[in-house]
Amino acid sequence: MSKSETSKSSEAPTAQSKGKTAGSNIIAVASGKGGVGKTFFSITLAHALSKMGKRVLLFDGDLGLANVDVQLGLMPKRDLNDVIRGRLSLEKVVQTYEDGDFDIIAGRSGQASLSALPSQRLSLLRDQLIDISSKYDVVIIDLGAGVDRTVRMLSAAATRTLLVTTDEPTSLTDAYAFIKLGSAAGMSRKVSIVINQAASASDGEKTYKTLLKACENFLKLTPPLAGLVRHDPRVKESIRHQTPILTRSPNSEAAADVEKIAVYAMKLLAARARKAVNA
Ligand SMILES: Nc1ncnc2c1ncn2[C@@H]1O[C@H](COP(=O)(O)OP(=O)(O)O)[C@@H](O)[C@H]1O
Ligand SMILES: [Mg+2]
Repeated sequence: MSKSETSKSSEAPTAQSKGKTAGSNIIAVASGKGGVGKTFFSITLAHALSKMGKRVLLFDGDLGLANVDVQLGLMPKRDLNDVIRGRLSLEKVVQTYEDGDFDIIAGRSGQASLSALPSQRLSLLRDQLIDISSKYDVVIIDLGAGVDRTVRMLSAAATRTLLVTTDEPTSLTDAYAFIKLGSAAGMSRKVSIVINQAASASDGEKTYKTLLKACENFLKLTPPLAGLVRHDPRVKESIRHQTPILTRSPNSEAAADVEKIAVYAMKLLAARARKAVNA
């Protein structure tokens, strides 16, 4: 049985599914550029939250590329393609990933992309996701890179966005562009930064400060730091074995760093829930 059907956690922030504006427990994982570790981070964050006793759903919002299904070695019988083709509702393609004890809505590599969906269908999908989110404590969306229409639509369902970047100049520039363009679309207030593949904690801090300075100087924005994930050879190794790092190398640096960010993410959601109550 999936954790969503049990009563493991009692602190579920309730989703505002009625207004279909955003799910108060939905976190989007974004990046300006691809290949920065967004999918690795999304999977590990979902797993870490599950280990904290949360009911978690991971949604692969970056269809068409080698993502959640490939990193975990899943061969889903049903996936988002069935939803895109109108064969099944979103709820019907949820599968439980036993190893991590969290639920997944998988894409399928090399298949139709969400970007091919007409806006109306995409917003219907988003509304279905917001509906489903009420069964979970946290929903994580692994977004595609950049700020195209699909990313904007899906991240609008999220109450918070974690923007992943590395210290590579191209990745940082694209992260800055994401914040700038997102700011125009009203997204940036909710963005926190994750520095991935940091050579060390102090190096990661430096990278964050570089990005922060640019945001403060040119955009008058101060996106907070969600945390740093150190570069760790066990990331590649666990992906090669199609096993989550929290299963294969739970004591690795990268795993510990993501676990810290999971605690941060829960604090973000709790603060968001309190605000909603007081509003
Ligand atoms: N913290 C890390 N340490 C070492 N390698 C990493 C780390 N994070 C990601 N990687 C490497 O980056 C590659 C791309 O990761 P992936 O999650 O597929 O990125 P994205 O989803 O952003 O395209 C992975 O194959 C992995 O080898
Ligand atoms: Mg990816």
